Amino acid sequence: MDFVRVELADRSYTIYISSGLMGEIGDFLTPFNLTSKNMLITNPTVYGLYGQRLLNSIHSKDIHCKCLIIPDGETYKDYFWAYHILSEMLKEGLDRKSCLFALGGGVIGDITGFCASIYMRGIPFIQIPTTLLAQVDSSVGGKTGVNHPLGKNMIGSFYQPMAVFIDTNTLNTLPNREFLAGMAEVIKYGVIWDDELFQYLDTYKDEIFTLAPARISHIIRRCCEIKAEIVGKDEKEQNIRAILNFGHTIAHALETETNYEVFKHGEAVAIGMVAEANIAKILGITDDVTVKKITDLIFAYGLPTYIPMSLNKDSLIHHMQKDKKSLVGRITIITPKRIGEVKVTKDVDIQHIKPSLNLLEVRDEKDIGD
Ligand code: NAD
Ligand code: GLY
Repeated sequence: MDFVRVELADRSYTIYISSGLMGEIGDFLTPFNLTSKNMLITNPTVYGLYGQRLLNSIHSKDIHCKCLIIPDGETYKDYFWAYHILSEMLKEGLDRKSCLFALGGGVIGDITGFCASIYMRGIPFIQIPTTLLAQVDSSVGGKTGVNHPLGKNMIGSFYQPMAVFIDTNTLNTLPNREFLAGMAEVIKYGVIWDDELFQYLDTYKDEIFTLAPARISHIIRRCCEIKAEIVGKDEKEQNIRAILNFGHTIAHALETETNYEVFKHGEAVAIGMVAEANIAKILGITDDVTVKKITDLIFAYGLPTYIPMSLNKDSLIHHMQKDKKSLVGRITIITPKRIGEVKVTKDVDIQHIKPSLNLLEVRDEKDIGD
């Protein structure tokens, strides 16, 4: 078992990482004193795979826990479904001591955390992430929320979980496309923080593809350590936490423009990282070698690297101006300097962004959703 601690004063918590943890989570719950009514939120896919095992483990400790299943998909991470969850919580009589369990990927984690943060002005919640993306990123750090047709993750809160339980065995059932989407966020950590991790991903690519347990545990633990360190320095994204958004200014625009239906979040991040690395080159912040290293590794993990030609570039720019990181329409981009180091570049001129989108268009060869 690996433990990573997120140090945030009275909001500190532990990330537990182990293979086969799902059926043992109940054993770790005693310190949380869960004496009220609690609720597990999941979707039909994940419930079918792990729901009963988790519930058996929780119930074996005489902890009361109902299960609420919402539909599977990013399009359900919205205000309507958050309202539905809150209504069910009220009907079940959850109170201020109740706890929500989020079992699933980033969609379930984000919407469950959001509901926990606003129900009776905030109740505890526990993350049990089952996708690679959720294990290395979304379950840690306390960003919760839902999408709006006018923008990705526009409604939400900073609200930390009480604990995160990662069973690495859950990756064995994850579809390959979802696994690769998670790898985009893993590559992100290499670019923004850790050139050794970046090199590791290149060196052990074949073993990572086959889910070699030692390699998978290493990358999950390392990503959680990096995220814990960054979030510990800047919980509410006043400064350094912004670097975790490398690739995301363009990714969120791509997701919004395509109505959350075309790209997996990680795929949009993969495209966004390549595009933002190119912007860094145009701005003279990085060089060709760094852009090529980033593009090659993303490509090697079978991820898309180009913006589909069919997408309207002016519309993408418009979404970027509405991004949470943009202030009064001025676009912020996380720009790599070299592998392992990035800088936050504010007020990027549209004229510097557009050519990089068009440049990618010319090289387009792996369109998704066209
Ligand atoms: P997801 O939650 O939609 O899960 C992907 C698919 O995998 C779903 O169909 C799900 O049912 C299925 N699934 C989950 N676990 C499985 C398993 N073990 N075996 C088989 N199938 C499984 O997508 P995701 O990529 O996990 O998360 C994307 C979401 O996370 C986006 O909404 C994104 O905005 C959000 N996100 C949030 C943060 C944050 O800091 N809060 C960070 C990154 C991403
Ligand atoms: N995924 C970006 C963040 O947590 O800040």
